[in-house]
Amino acid sequence: MENENLKTVLEEKRTFEPQSNFQQNAKLQSIAEYKEKYKKSIENPEEFWAEAASELHFFKKWDRVLNADNPPFFRWFENAKTNICYNCIDRHLGSATRNKAAIIWEGEPGDEQVLTYADLARKVNKMANGLKSLGVKKGDRIAIYLPMIPELAISVLACARIGAVHSVIFAGFSAESIRDRVNDCQAKITITSDGAWRRGKHLLLKNIVDQAIKNCPSIEKNIVIKRCKTEQFDCTMEPEKDIWYHDLVEKCSIHCPAEEMDSEDMLFLLYTSGTTGKPKGIIHTTAGYMLYSYYTSKYVFDLKPEDVYWCTADIGWITGHSYIVYGPLANGATCLMYEGTPNTPHKGRFWELVEKYSVNIFYTAPTAIRTFMKWGDEWPNKYDLSSLRLLGTVGEPINPEAWMWYHKVIGAERCPIVDTWWQTETGGMMITPIPGCTTTKPGSATLPFFGIDACVLDKNGEEQNAGLLAIRKPWPGMLRGIYGDEERFKQTYWSKWKNIYFPGDGARKDEDGYFWILGRVDDVVNVSGHRIGTAELESIFVSHTKVAESAVIGIDHKIKGQAMVAFVSLREGNDGNDDLIEELKKLVVEKIGKFAIPERIIFTADLPKTRSGKIMRRLLRDIAEGRTVGNVTTLADASVIEALKEKYQDD
Ligand code: PRX
Repeated sequence: MENENLKTVLEEKRTFEPQSNFQQNAKLQSIAEYKEKYKKSIENPEEFWAEAASELHFFKKWDRVLNADNPPFFRWFENAKTNICYNCIDRHLGSATRNKAAIIWEGEPGDEQVLTYADLARKVNKMANGLKSLGVKKGDRIAIYLPMIPELAISVLACARIGAVHSVIFAGFSAESIRDRVNDCQAKITITSDGAWRRGKHLLLKNIVDQAIKNCPSIEKNIVIKRCKTEQFDCTMEPEKDIWYHDLVEKCSIHCPAEEMDSEDMLFLLYTSGTTGKPKGIIHTTAGYMLYSYYTSKYVFDLKPEDVYWCTADIGWITGHSYIVYGPLANGATCLMYEGTPNTPHKGRFWELVEKYSVNIFYTAPTAIRTFMKWGDEWPNKYDLSSLRLLGTVGEPINPEAWMWYHKVIGAERCPIVDTWWQTETGGMMITPIPGCTTTKPGSATLPFFGIDACVLDKNGEEQNAGLLAIRKPWPGMLRGIYGDEERFKQTYWSKWKNIYFPGDGARKDEDGYFWILGRVDDVVNVSGHRIGTAELESIFVSHTKVAESAVIGIDHKIKGQAMVAFVSLREGNDGNDDLIEELKKLVVEKIGKFAIPERIIFTADLPKTRSGKIMRRLLRDIAEGRTVGNVTTLADASVIEALKEKYQDD
């Protein structure tokens, strides 16, 4: 928990009531309405969630809403049968939504595609049949490594339709990361593309997958989508393994019945960093996740049939799963999906898209907002943003200054801002304003969503005003486990207190019951909204023959929220020079991906340790953030600190 954060949010006193024109048209229109619904959801969660679930389609109704007999293994909507793809697509085909845009897509070079719900149905069914023709069965794992093209959403939905478990791997990950994730879940198929457009250039995605699956014996076929379509583009197909997507689906029927899935059948895996070197395969199951992504989208985005909604996340992360694909489509919403980066070909690209498509709801990350701030008001000011009616943020704490900029420059002081706190593990938003109800405070995620019993506890389980964030009751979107590692699931999330979920974040609760999320309290760093375990980087550095030891810490960063600093001590006789820094960075790119390169790598003769040999990261953080170094009495050798301070300033 960073002191700077705590100081800023303690000083923040501004409040913003929902504007009456927004409120009058909102689904929920007052704080009294929120409170009443919240009270019901907490006092009688089973009735509450059963009523909510009745808005969705179940092939067979549940026998029991919640089975909490064996915590932390909770089961929702026991023995019901449903299918999330059916609810995202088929459910709309009998109404006017059928011919409404489900996905409006724009590629980085400006190419466009609009898929109505009926179009999406045909494409998803064809892909589902294509997967079946390759022998994919319910329960098989499929790894997806794609850029932000419609086929990414189509692949995800096609898997869900036939009950295959998707594991989407963000297309910035390296071949080794793909290999580890594929091998961990023993995926049968990979889906990728020849390439992707990134800042005017091609990224050779298939080559990365080729390299990865050389060492993945479980992979039987690799489906390749043609995205880049250029002559000079080198994409060799291996006849035994590779198959073009267009060839695969060409003869497939547009009809494919949705598999009747059990509520607790696995829907997807999504790997995320934890406090050890090995990423965790977070398990989400069918009915609870479906309901939670649907219901949070409905109320937090206050979705209206005519809205164009844009979430700028990548489907490779949980935000894209829940709030580009499943939640909005289950609501019959129209989603804008964009392939590129915000500054290609110019820094006004996002605002150009808002104007072009008259976007009404815009959901992005604080890092992006801080970057836009840095680029200057002239970029958004060039475009007509008057269609916007609601703004959102997710992924990291937003500093009040960035919140105010978002409110004024993007929202023209007219749009409510929903600062939504949640995680890969929670499946959907947990602490968030309801835009027609909640008075917002810049920097606060405000109040818990329906059914979420959030509190701030100390390590003994006593409620406090500042401490560790905790969730006392199960909720439908919760993770059901870590793939292949039950012990780690229990240990990571359920061992701090009895039957209480521990998300790993610090928080403060103010006199109005508002939550202020202060950031991770474990060894996970949130860089630009991407979770990276410091242990993952440390184990990469020590794998280098010249490195003896390493400690990686997170420090505050003006744009990225947090950045990583690596302290590295070398084996005897090695020189810590610029070449070695480059080698270490290259190693990070190979093992994880470019986005995980630390801000600084500092060579040091020693690391500060306790007498029992434990590295004191707290002291490293003090040094890196230029603070007075805290208590050093437990250090084995206090002189290390002075040497490090000098070294840090020199570098
Ligand atoms: O530390 C919290 C931070 O992001 C973590 C979850 O990361 P991930 O699983 O990658 O999911 C990101 C998208 C949901 C949390 O433990 N975080 C997320 N949203 C917020 C946040 N911190 C503060 N405020 C938020 N709104």
